[in-house]
Amino acid sequence: MASLSSTARARSAELYDRVKRVIPPPEWATFAEDVDAILELKRSRNAVVLAHNYQTPEIFHGVADIVGDSLLLAREATKVDADIIVLAGVHFMAETAKLLNPEKTVLIPDLAAGCSLADSITAQDVRLMRQRYPGVPVVTYVNTSSAVKAESDICCTSGNALKVVESLGVERVIMLPDEYLAQNIAAQTNVKIIAWKGHCEVHELFTASDVRQLRENHPDVTILAHPECPPEVVAEADFSGSTAAMSDFVGQKRPPRVVLLTECSMSDNVSVLHPDVEFIRPCNLCPHMKRITLKNIRHALETGQHEVTIDPAIAVSARRAVERMLAI
Ligand code: 13P
Ligand code: SF4
Repeated sequence: MASLSSTARARSAELYDRVKRVIPPPEWATFAEDVDAILELKRSRNAVVLAHNYQTPEIFHGVADIVGDSLLLAREATKVDADIIVLAGVHFMAETAKLLNPEKTVLIPDLAAGCSLADSITAQDVRLMRQRYPGVPVVTYVNTSSAVKAESDICCTSGNALKVVESLGVERVIMLPDEYLAQNIAAQTNVKIIAWKGHCEVHELFTASDVRQLRENHPDVTILAHPECPPEVVAEADFSGSTAAMSDFVGQKRPPRVVLLTECSMSDNVSVLHPDVEFIRPCNLCPHMKRITLKNIRHALETGQHEVTIDPAIAVSARRAVERMLAI
C-alpha cells in the first residue's frame, strides 16, 4: 500500500469500500498493489478482464470488467472491443471466448484451471454416443473442451439448457456430459434425455440430508441449488438455476436468509451486492477456479501468458455449436 501514489490510494479506498464486508483490511492491504497494477495494465494493453461468478471478491469486484455466469461471459465475449481478453475462470470458458473472438488474444492466467466435467468426456466418446444413438442430436454443456464441442450439434449452459433442449423439436436428445444437469432438465420436459456420467466435483458433494439439516437449523432459510447438484438436492431446494439466476433470485426476492448450494465465492460476491440478506455458508471450493489469483492475472497482462489457441481443424465446428446456442 505504501508504494501506491495518492491517486492510486484513493482509488483503492473506493474499491475497498465495496468489498469491506467480505475482505478484512489486512487482507486488502496485500491485494491493493496488484489491483492497481492490473487496472493500469488493462488501460495500457487495451485489455479487459472477464470473470466468472466463482472468482474471489478481490478479482470479481476489484479488477473485472464483466462478471457473470458462463452464458453471460460467452455472450459478452462477442461484444468485446479490446485487443486482449483475460479470462478469470476456467479453461473451457477461455476457449469459448477464443472461439467467439478468433482475432483477439485470449489469456488464461493458469493453464491448469480445468474442470471435472470437461475432463469427463472426449471427442471419441461423443462419436461413440452418436454411433449408439444414430440420428439423436447432441446437446453439449459448455463445460467441455473445444474438441468435444466440435462433435456436437449445439451447446448449452445451465442458464439455457431447457430452452436449448426444447428448441430442437425432437423426442430424444443426448445431453453431455453432466449427468445431474441432464436429470434435472429431464424433470422439466417431455423430451427424453440420454445422459453421460460426468459430474462436477464441487456440486456432487451436496446431499439431500445437507438440505434437511439446513432447514432444521434455520427454519426460515431459502435454499438455492445449482443444477449441477444431484437431483435429490435440487428437488428439496426452493429454487435451482445458473449462478446468474441464483444471484438474480436473491436480488429480486430479497429473502432474509439464504443458502447458495454452490461454489464458496458466490455467496461472498452476491452478499456484497445485498447487505440486507444474511448468507448461511455451507459451500464447496472449486480448486480449478481458485487457481486464478490477482498475481497470475497481473502476470498474464505483463507477459501475455498463457495464450489460448484452438486447433483450426476443430474451431469451425466448435464455434458453430456455440453460436447456435447463442442464437436461441
Ligand atoms: P454457470 O454457467 O451457472 O455460471 O456455471 C458454471 C459452472 O462451472 C458451475 O459449476
Ligand atoms: Fe467445473 Fe464444477 Fe469447477 Fe464449475 S465448479 S468449473 S463445473 S469443477
